[in-house]
Amino acid sequence: MIPESVIEEIKYRCNITDVISQYVTLKRAGSNMTGLCPFHSEKTPSFTVFEGSRSFYCFGCGAGGDVISFIMRAENMEYPEAVEYLARRAGIDVPQDGARRDNAGPAKQRLLDMNRAAAKFFYSQMKESKAALGYLEKRRITPALANHFGLGYAPDDFGLLTNHMHKLGFTDDELYAGFLCGKSKKTGRAYDYFRNRLMFPIINTSGDVIGFSGRVIGDGEPKYLNTSDTAVFKKSRNLFAMNFAKPVCRERLILCEGNIDVVSLHGAGFAYSVATLGTALTDDQARMMKRTTDEVVISYDNDAAGQKAANRAFERLREAGVTARVLVLEGAKDPDEYINTFGADAFRKLLDETYSEFDYKFLNILKKYDIRADEGRIAASNETVEVISSIYSSVERELYAKKAAAKLGVSSESLMHDVRAAVRRRSRQSKRDETETMKRRIQGLGDRVNPDRIKNLGGSAAEEAILGIMMSSPEFIAKAKDGEYGLTPDDFVTSLDRRIYEKMLEYGEGFDVGRLNGEFTADEVSRAAQMQVRRMGLANTEDALRDCVAALKRSASKNASIEDIIKNKRKQ
Ligand code: CTP
Ligand code: MN
Repeated sequence: MIPESVIEEIKYRCNITDVISQYVTLKRAGSNMTGLCPFHSEKTPSFTVFEGSRSFYCFGCGAGGDVISFIMRAENMEYPEAVEYLARRAGIDVPQDGARRDNAGPAKQRLLDMNRAAAKFFYSQMKESKAALGYLEKRRITPALANHFGLGYAPDDFGLLTNHMHKLGFTDDELYAGFLCGKSKKTGRAYDYFRNRLMFPIINTSGDVIGFSGRVIGDGEPKYLNTSDTAVFKKSRNLFAMNFAKPVCRERLILCEGNIDVVSLHGAGFAYSVATLGTALTDDQARMMKRTTDEVVISYDNDAAGQKAANRAFERLREAGVTARVLVLEGAKDPDEYINTFGADAFRKLLDETYSEFDYKFLNILKKYDIRADEGRIAASNETVEVISSIYSSVERELYAKKAAAKLGVSSESLMHDVRAAVRRRSRQSKRDETETMKRRIQGLGDRVNPDRIKNLGGSAAEEAILGIMMSSPEFIAKAKDGEYGLTPDDFVTSLDRRIYEKMLEYGEGFDVGRLNGEFTADEVSRAAQMQVRRMGLANTEDALRDCVAALKRSASKNASIEDIIKNKRKQ
């Protein structure tokens, strides 16, 4: 646990408006500040900073919390990391013990030390293996390039790494926790997880080895084996080679699918390239890119799977507000093969001829159909209409329609006519969807953050009001703690609200939403922030509070009687 006094000090010195201003352009609106939400894509500002309560809330996506919650979201950090980050910013010392030690499993530093030792071992094995050296040569990875990436070789053996790590003092449990070893079902002992593989250490921007990606030498299944998520490694929040790319990717970042592609690109002088780690591009990664670069160039494999993945990446990046283009390869299946076949200069030329999202989609439509025949032309036009009608800006829609019509040999009027019809259809559909979600929300269905709501809607509304009033007027929490309103955690009908109330009682008057960080999920913290925000501008008086407590108790007894009725019915 990090001492409360330290948290308080951090929140005092890291003014929420100053911190958030580094991420969001804020404008004053009354006593609050508003701006475009960094956590979802929007055109009108619904992100609000409440200086009075030192909190933020987005009326669009519902993200909310205190300055620490903000950093956790914006920097993709866990609670202790976010605290340390802000502490460093404010020049405060965080007692190491508290922040670093994780109850479950070895401390983070220990995992990092272990990974570094393993990386050294794999590296030293490379020289010993003719097969591995031969493979590098075959893949045209020069010794200098292999050194640069710290590539290694996991020998074709079940015990070499395990023995080596034992000698260094690492225990089986530590090796399992770091995903360096598996546990044998037969003998119950540790065995090397990576065998006969070219090893890519995954290094974060602080220079720590956080995990590994291992490609089988030659053919074999699975082709890649990756470290699963550990206390120091989250696949969805890291990118391969970002350690090298970060300082040189301000203007442009190349995004690949394969580790090997990235190694080749770096070797050819494109150090501003990274790859996802065996997953589709995630929201977290897209947001990370938003902060590190002005333009992402998607450079995926030249096949149907790569094309699909590129379309998804476009979407993720668009949502994160990142400018993205795609590089189209001809005559090679991936960037690695392209560079080996045509050379770095040819690739550089492709970088100057990248496609926008629309142009790329349109290009693929033209490739798919023979537009010299009527059928092909009609099918291509229809598909183009679908693509254009899903674009938000009407200016863009018109521009693309003109461009596409010319290529397709149809009039831009008729194409635009179809686009407008499709836009109307889409807007009707999305209104229907919206009403549907609204209905479900009113009924309490599909609430993933507080699934108990459905059980007692009246009660949960009362709870949320109670918690909201108490957050707005913390002196009521102190009174509640003294038993003033006769409200105990047991009175609560949903477990989320009960847990929040318990935290309130624990902290008394010193409670604010930020106290929930770390123990509650980001969405739960946001929900609490929402309860507070919803009470703004309402009368948060003691009378209101008492009314809500009474309503909560009534709803609980009403609910019990309904359950009794059901029970009695069953008996009959
Ligand atoms: N990948 C994975 N697990 C697999 C296959 C692939 O995690 N079984 C991930 C790896 O991160 C890999 C990326 O997906 O780098 C792209 O896969 P692929 O194009 O098949 O691999 P390359 O790295 O391009 O390797 P190669 O050129 O040797 O085929
Ligand atoms: Mn490949």
